[in-house]
Amino acid sequence: MAELQNIDNDLYKKIHHFVNKRMGLYFTENRKKDLIRGLNYASESFGYKDVNTCIEQLLSVNWTTNQIQTLANYLTVGETYFYRHREQLEYIFTHYLKKKTPQTKIKIWCSGCCTGEEPYSIAIMSREFSFISNQFDIEIIATDINSTFIKKAVSGIYTEHSLRTVPKTIIKKYFTQTGSNQFVLDEKIRDKINFKYLNLASNTYPSEVNNTHCLDIILCRNVFIYFQQETIDRVVKNFNKCLNKDGILFVSPAETFMISRHILGKIVTAPVTVFSKNNGNLNNNKTPETSVLKPASRVKYNPKNTKTTEPKSTKTIYDTGKEKIKLSSNNKDYLKMLRNLYSKKRYKEILQVFKNIDINKINNDIKKEIYSIVCKSYSKSGNMEKAYDQSCRLVDIDKLDPESQFVHASILLEADRIREAEKVFEKVLYLDPCHIMSYFMLGNLHMINSNIEKAMKNFKRAHSLLQREPPGKILDDTEQLTAGKLKEIIATMLKARQMKT
Ligand SMILES: C[S@@+](CC[C@H](N)C(=O)[O-])C[C@H]1O[C@@H](n2cnc3c(N)ncnc32)[C@H](O)[C@@H]1O
Repeated sequence: MAELQNIDNDLYKKIHHFVNKRMGLYFTENRKKDLIRGLNYASESFGYKDVNTCIEQLLSVNWTTNQIQTLANYLTVGETYFYRHREQLEYIFTHYLKKKTPQTKIKIWCSGCCTGEEPYSIAIMSREFSFISNQFDIEIIATDINSTFIKKAVSGIYTEHSLRTVPKTIIKKYFTQTGSNQFVLDEKIRDKINFKYLNLASNTYPSEVNNTHCLDIILCRNVFIYFQQETIDRVVKNFNKCLNKDGILFVSPAETFMISRHILGKIVTAPVTVFSKNNGNLNNNKTPETSVLKPASRVKYNPKNTKTTEPKSTKTIYDTGKEKIKLSSNNKDYLKMLRNLYSKKRYKEILQVFKNIDINKINNDIKKEIYSIVCKSYSKSGNMEKAYDQSCRLVDIDKLDPESQFVHASILLEADRIREAEKVFEKVLYLDPCHIMSYFMLGNLHMINSNIEKAMKNFKRAHSLLQREPPGKILDDTEQLTAGKLKEIIATMLKARQMKT
């Protein structure tokens, strides 16, 4: 890239907010240049000539995991090395395992593992502390938002810089020098780690699908320094759900003050500080725990709303926590309420209300709209499994309904099931050859796959259909996008392409 392009102020604010919300990354004023540079590079790799057009377009549709990954590759910082905060890693073997029952499974998750030095250090130490680790079945999972880092981690190739604090004997034992400054990690250690993509700012964990459930130890070190407190609290709450009852969390020493003692307990075994699973025995007045390995104290779940679970024939007062809404047995009441909550982005409440609807008693047209709102709400809350589940139910109601198929395709796309999404968008166009957003989405998909010719064909078709629409009309299947705006976006893309060829 020759020169960095400037980003329009309003657009910068929007993308800054988006990156914070969807990726957890908070760029302070001091780091504004880093964000602008990253966006310029990402835009180039998405195939755009103009960074502002790229951002506008990205902000106008739901992002795929693929797009988030590409952007993350340009925005994340990858400083790490073997044996970093060594005392913490040793604590696992010298303290934690000693208190566990032998012959049990121990699951460790390095979240934000970068290029692999952290999980590999644990695997090496596990060999070095074999007298204790051999008594357990240890599984190490490693995830990061940056797919380039993950690829490097899987390769297991490092330079001296990564090994700067590792004792020479350990380097000799576990690495083979293959160049003047190139060291390859022993295959047996590499095979111990399962690397995967995971965005900590999403709500995709805990989950059996990515194996982030029933964990004993989570490491999230030198990641929170890039997050805002609100995001940190959200991530830590999720970690708490991932942990087994004696589970612990490590953050870097500099990040310990960022962990709210009301979310996790704190154990100090100088010089190491770890955070312990909150089994429900912490409250605002209590001092933090000083010992982890206590049996979990059971707390009774005390639901806020002790309301009826089915629409009654009489009026029902539904308390959403923010307002009380009167419902009758009329199904349309529910629909109206869900639409209203959706327009206000109150997705959690939608899912709560949905639990109380007896869906089998509802006619198909209303059922379709309810499912559509619910699966979009699951998707917005980051629960892609449930979103996918509900979108399958939605298409099952009427397989020939293009709108239902479109919702299903969008969920597949968000879940990064690109091929399937492509097929379903094509199905929408078979059912409704004038479905503008499907042409647009297919155009984007072909862009991701660098199939420029097909992308342009779809964009052109969307553009020509848009001619018939009033510019101010909000397009179906979008929240805010007007026909005029989309026409403008596509026109810029087509023009940029023409200039390239
Ligand atoms: C400075 S490195 C820390 C690596 C390692 N944990 C350590 O302490 O040496 C920060 C890592 O966090 C990752 N990261 C940043 N935001 C993330 C997110 N939202 N989800 C997952 N990983 C993220 C970055 O890609 C990067 O690899």
